[in-house]
This record gives sequence, C-alpha cells and structure tokens, in this order.
Amino acid sequence: MVNEYEIKKQICDIGKRIYDRGMVAANDGNISVKLNDNEFLCTPTGVSKGFMTPEYICKVDRNGKVLQANKGFKPSSEIKMHMRVYKERPDVNSVVHAHPMYATGFAIAGIPLTQPIMPEAVIALGCVPIAEYGTPSTEEIPDAVSKYLQSFDAVLLENHGALTFSDSLLNAYHKMESVEFYAKLLYISKQLGGPKELSESQVQRLYEIRRQFGLKGKHPADLCPNAKEGKPSCHGCGGNCTCGKGDGDMVAEITKRVLEQLGK
Ligand code: 13P
Repeated sequence: MVNEYEIKKQICDIGKRIYDRGMVAANDGNISVKLNDNEFLCTPTGVSKGFMTPEYICKVDRNGKVLQANKGFKPSSEIKMHMRVYKERPDVNSVVHAHPMYATGFAIAGIPLTQPIMPEAVIALGCVPIAEYGTPSTEEIPDAVSKYLQSFDAVLLENHGALTFSDSLLNAYHKMESVEFYAKLLYISKQLGGPKELSESQVQRLYEIRRQFGLKGKHPADLCPNAKEGKPSCHGCGGNCTCGKGDGDMVAEITKRVLEQLGK
C-alpha cells in the first residue's frame, strides 16, 4: 500500500506533466485520487497545477467536505464533478480534468470524437462524447456528465474541456493524453482533406483485441446491444444504438421521432 504522502507527490508530478504539456493554462485543471470509500485527495483551487508540492494537496470526504487542508488551501472548485464520478463508478480510483487544446477545441465546436481513425484510440477510448454545457463549480456539470459515466472513461465537457477517470492516477492521466492525441490527429486529418476511417471490420477486430486483453473500465464496444449478443458492435453508441435493427425498423424509428418533433 503506497502511503498518503507518496500519493500526494504523484498528484504533484501529474499536475506538472499536465501543465508542461500545455493541457492547462494558468491555474486550470484539477486532479483527485480515492484513498478509500470516504477519503479522497484533491488538488487545491486557484493554484497552478504545474507548481504544487505535497503540502498543497487537500483531503475531502465522499461529499466533498474538507477533512484536511493546510492554511491557505481549499479543495478544487470542481470537487462535486469528481465526487459524482466516484459515486457512480465504484471502479474508479482517480479523476483528471484538463483543458487540452485540441480536445477542448472539439468540445467548443460541439463535435464529439467518434470517427474511428487509429487503432490505439479505438482500443483505449472507443469514442468520446460531449457532456452538455454546465456552469463550472455547480451541480450542472456533474448532472451532465452522469449520463455518460456508465458507458465511457473519457468525456468532453461542452465549451469547457475534458474529463478522464480510471482505476489509477497514471491510467486516468494517460486517458487524458490519449483523448488529446486522438483529437489532434482528427483535427490534422480534417485539414488534410478528411480522415480515411477504419472500416467496420477493422474496428471490430480492434474491439476483439480489447476484449482479449481484458482491459478494465467502460468502453462503448462492451456496451453496444449488438456486442452483448455476440454480434459486431457499432463504434460509438455507448449502448444506445439502432445499428442492430433492420432498415425497416430504422425508418420506422426515424419516422416516429420526426412525428414526435412535429407534435403529432
Ligand atoms: P480549480 O482550480 O478550482 O480546481 O479550477 C480549475 C478549473 O479548471 C475549473 O474548471
């Protein structure tokens, strides 16, 4: 068992990495780690996450109430967002929030990362949805994020940034790197005339590899209703797709939704 001071040092190291890689500006971003069901370490509000020392790190309970904080430090203003992830995802031990340039660009443009363009992103993330805009520090962001927690380990926050979570601090941070790398590649390939997407069968083979590796966490490939029935899953449904239905069903569904929109 790693001691608490060591975990505080690791949080500072990851904060420096996020800052040095330009994934945050000034005092942006926040990081937390679960110690046990009622004790969590988190970065303080309003400091540069690139220049922290272990004394900066605060401890909160499962409701985000302060258990310990050194003079002059208060927990992150986004602690409610972190706590919602821990509450709804008992498998998660660390949460990272940052504003990486490309991923945040997509979050601002309202474009989710759904195109299957490279193997690592398909295996690690599947795809990355956008949680509807919420005012920072309020319950609006946790409420918006909640909808995606059972299907994904990474979410873009509309007009704001990105949120990743995993079974360890390093894995949660790596997910943030993967999201940004995927967003950057997607952006560049769009400038070069548009990405050549992986085919359905190529995506399915990557999903199969993910299953064989037994990778932890939530991933749309494991949640697609098709995959549950042993059929090929779509790339990005997060459990809500209609891709297993025949065309007739699809047309009927679209017709139903159009009529609903028209109030008929
Ligand atoms: P804190 O410094 O309060 O964690 O806030 C930074 C941030 O990025 C808010 O979205």
